[in-house]
Amino acid sequence: MSGLELIDVSKSYGATRVLDGVSLSIAPREFIAFLGPSGSGKSTLLRIIAGLETLDSGEVHLGGQRIDGLAPGARGIAMVFQHYALYPHMTVRENMAFGLINAKVPKDEIASRIAQAADILEIGSQLDKKPGQMSGGQRQRVAIGRAIVKQPRLFLLDEPLSNLDAALRSRTRVELAQLRNRVDAALIMVTHDQAEAMTLADRIVVMNDRRIQQVGTPAEVYARPANAFVARFVGSPAMAMLAGRVISGESGRLRVRLAGGAELQTAVAAAGIAADAPVEVGLRPEHVTLAPPGSGGIAATVELVERLGDRTFIYTRLAEGSEVIACAPGFSEVRPGDEVLLAIDAAAAHVFSADGTAHHPEASA
Ligand SMILES: Nc1ncnc2c1ncn2[C@@H]1O[C@H](COP(=O)(O)OP(=O)(O)OP(=O)(O)O)[C@@H](O)[C@H]1O
Ligand SMILES: [Mg+2]
Repeated sequence: MSGLELIDVSKSYGATRVLDGVSLSIAPREFIAFLGPSGSGKSTLLRIIAGLETLDSGEVHLGGQRIDGLAPGARGIAMVFQHYALYPHMTVRENMAFGLINAKVPKDEIASRIAQAADILEIGSQLDKKPGQMSGGQRQRVAIGRAIVKQPRLFLLDEPLSNLDAALRSRTRVELAQLRNRVDAALIMVTHDQAEAMTLADRIVVMNDRRIQQVGTPAEVYARPANAFVARFVGSPAMAMLAGRVISGESGRLRVRLAGGAELQTAVAAAGIAADAPVEVGLRPEHVTLAPPGSGGIAATVELVERLGDRTFIYTRLAEGSEVIACAPGFSEVRPGDEVLLAIDAAAAHVFSADGTAHHPEASA
């Protein structure tokens, strides 16, 4: 019925506050990704939930029960670390059984849980191997298997895929997606990889500066970032931010003059934003294209070209100094040093007030 509930959780190390009033509600079978820069408190929050770290104030509830006073082993939570700490002298089977033997789970039950986990992770043929005889990806699966056999109500995974190479990573990503369909538990995964968060998670929790900045579906976080930080942090390449000033609302929509002089008619509601207010205009690469000569686009100099095959990202700099990334279909021929014109899809622009508050484009009528 009820999943995980964090209420006003705060934590300091000495004089340094690392979490400040974090509240979050997670449904029983939800897949959540924690995304945020290094040092934003993601691991600390995971460790508090698991009981490996104490909290200074606040409450943690799981399945309707308050758990922040319970020992880690009594919480019904399994945690998988970035460095899959397997016991090297034990076989895969023994590694998975270890925690259950300690918890005095009957032998038959242990065997059947291991068989089931091995089946989910497709490591049935590896059970008698030692970790040293396995690849990184296989070891990480054993670490996840060790979590599965505990039959937790909640899985906590701290960057579980970051030690894997790119190919293994995308395979294990698919396995994680399958895992969540086969276990009756919620799952929180910390990741630095946006693609991982976007593709796996039901909802993403963006953390920064000791706080949760936004909780939302991948689509919400991408299309309606709560503030300038989220807007910049989510999306790759990052959203460009151009300084400007509000001219005036035209037919209820904001018109902005950029520092370089160009005027943009946005689709952002002008209500509540004063004329002449300093703002930043946020543009994702897919909303900036190269314009043909003489088309009246904004002049820019190409600095870097990233050809991905199906599209090309063109990193440019405007005369006033801002960086804007444009996107072109296919294999673009432009080169660093080229002078280009940028066409901006102003109707897709986001606008940010000086305090970082986000204003999103409205759908056109
Ligand atoms: N045991 C500790 N003692 C003192 N400070 C700590 C301790 N653990 C973490 N911190 C500090 O708390 C802050 C948050 O750390 P945390 O490990 O939660 O960040 P993170 O978001 O997981 O970062 P990363 O993405 O690098 O793993 C950091 O500033 C870190 O230096
Ligand atoms: Mg961490």
